[in-house]
Amino acid sequence: MKIINKVEELRLEIKKLKSEKQGHIGLVPTMGALHNGHLSLIEKARKENEIVVVSVFVNPTQFGPNEDYDKYPRTLEADSKLCEKAGVDFVFAPAPSDIYDEYYFKHKETTLICPPYDVVNKLCGKSRPGHFDGVCTIVAKLFNITKCDRAYFGKKDAQQLFIIQKMVRDLNFDIEIIGCPIVREADNLALSSRNTYLDDDARKTALDISKALFKVKELCNNGIKDCAVLIDTALAIMQNLEVEYTEIVSVDTFEKINTVEGKALMLIAARVKSGDSRVRLIDNIEL
Ligand code: PAJ
Repeated sequence: MKIINKVEELRLEIKKLKSEKQGHIGLVPTMGALHNGHLSLIEKARKENEIVVVSVFVNPTQFGPNEDYDKYPRTLEADSKLCEKAGVDFVFAPAPSDIYDEYYFKHKETTLICPPYDVVNKLCGKSRPGHFDGVCTIVAKLFNITKCDRAYFGKKDAQQLFIIQKMVRDLNFDIEIIGCPIVREADNLALSSRNTYLDDDARKTALDISKALFKVKELCNNGIKDCAVLIDTALAIMQNLEVEYTEIVSVDTFEKINTVEGKALMLIAARVKSGDSRVRLIDNIEL
């Protein structure tokens, strides 16, 4: 496995390996602090492709001014070990200056991919303006850098996955987007790099998010399809959390629905107090 920082070097190394192996390239974009959720994507990519690239890059353009860009966990050494064990060919771990040019650092602006307003400015995008423009931009850059055939994303970030699928359709990227199931702890807490911010009490409180989701799924399976009732049930369970949104949307359109018919998603974002910080967590479940 090679750890590469520079775009041109990665291009060269991928070209070399591709001429030897003649296979498909699978890309797993991450921001590092890898956990079993990331590893499930990497394992799937390993099974389905001859060449696997994992990118580890905390992307500044997707963080708002008051967000956790500076304190986001950076654990490249441990991440590289996990990748090596998982049989990854290349870890691409650039510095911000390898990805964005001087103009960006001077003016805090770059060429962006901006999906339609209504798609990005709801749910997570409502409290994080510009977030999905930053995500699409870095993902498109990684697609162009790696020339991957397939790219793997977790359903944990359901809106992100939906928006990337739309970007790929809208911009005719010749890349297959593979959505992978949410990996959870034994007690159902969805794995997240931000779980490292939680102290013991906060972690216990955070469990109410998945409790709410699983309760709603159970009710829905028992025939309760009215979204107002389902959302109230979830909110009642999450009284100790600062809920940012609890919504039920159609899987196909990501638009709010009133009644669960066909495939739907319940999505939650909530903040948990942990010491002095309020950790923002997201989770969702298919209904
Ligand atoms: P990051 O939060 O590191 O997540 C990288 C990938 O891992 C995403 O596709 C995410 O959905 C997936 N993932 C995270 N937790 C998961 C879990 N518990 N189960 C399954 N998959 C999980 O998402 C990003 O980074 C960034 O926005 C990125 C796409 C890399 C662009 O910067």
